[in-house]
Amino acid sequence: MRVLSGIQSSGKLHLGNYLGALKQHVELQHGNKCFFFIANYHALTTVQDAERQRMLTRDVALDYLALGLDPHQAALFRQSDVPDVCELTWILSTVTGRGLLERAHSYKDKISKGIAPSMGLMCYPILMAADILIYDSDIVPVGRDQVQHIEMAQDMAGYFNNTYNCEALKRPEPRLNEAFIVPGIDGQKMSKSYGNTIDLFDSPKAVRKRIMSIKTDSTPVEAPKHPEQCNVFAILKLMASPEEVEEIAAAYRKGGLGYGTVKKRVVELFEEHFGPARERRAELAADPDLVEDVLVDGAKRARAAAAQVMARVRDACGLMTARG
Ligand code: ADP
Ligand code: TRP
Repeated sequence: MRVLSGIQSSGKLHLGNYLGALKQHVELQHGNKCFFFIANYHALTTVQDAERQRMLTRDVALDYLALGLDPHQAALFRQSDVPDVCELTWILSTVTGRGLLERAHSYKDKISKGIAPSMGLMCYPILMAADILIYDSDIVPVGRDQVQHIEMAQDMAGYFNNTYNCEALKRPEPRLNEAFIVPGIDGQKMSKSYGNTIDLFDSPKAVRKRIMSIKTDSTPVEAPKHPEQCNVFAILKLMASPEEVEEIAAAYRKGGLGYGTVKKRVVELFEEHFGPARERRAELAADPDLVEDVLVDGAKRARAAAAQVMARVRDACGLMTARG
């Protein structure tokens, strides 16, 4: 299977990004042909400062490597190192109706949060479709909020193939983790733009502070509690073993368990999961060439795969002859 996914370089990665997306990426690298990229063209819709853009791009690459992505298995690269995606974006835009883009939830959400409605923001799903279709991707592992974008990529592949009566573009399928939507410390979806994240590579002290500030109700320690209605339990559930989850759920119902105690357990679980990755990240960051070497090599592999699809696409719509 060809697996492809991208993460924007628009901020620090958090627990939602890991459980919704990156965890699947790292698991899928074995036994599949994987392409993972840092969506820096997409990030330009929100980050418009060159130094910050460069820093965030390097950060996402380091995060991926620290979390176990093996660049020999999977190609890890910068989106902008395969500029062919911009050509495919244009071609797809000529077969896609405006109505499809106007229905995008993510566009509507971003506008409602005050992000300026640039053409880039509106065309975001076309660039994303190009990202997916240019590598002949079979599956696209993402969090639930991205599913509509993948369905749009399916639509766009169909529009192109129908318009030119060809099979140049392959239909991709989304793949979701069991952690559909990871809640933030306020119980809403965890997201950079809601300020409710637990960042993966913050210092132990900062992580602890965030976890201890997860919003809870004022039920006293002795009283029985509903685990399903508790933000701390929702996050614990994503990291603890099924046996421990059951045990803690029973203790909630019985009463006598304080939210503070559960939060402390979440801190421990977080450190068990991410403590070693934090150390690995510090080691990787000490090598000034490593990230660039990985990204340059990944881009070479990605460009070779993209060139094949672009040859089919350009041929299908008459931008070049079958002889090239
Ligand atoms: P954010 O909402 O913080 O800006 P992104 O849009 O950059 O995150 O998401 C990158 C990847 O992480 C996507 O595949 C997305 O679906 C996934 N993701 C983000 N937040 C969550 C969450 N709270 N739960 C599950 N997956 C998430
Ligand atoms: N839009 C995705 C996000 O915000 C990032 C992304 C860009 C992506 N291109 C992609 C994800 C292609 C999967 C496939 O998370």
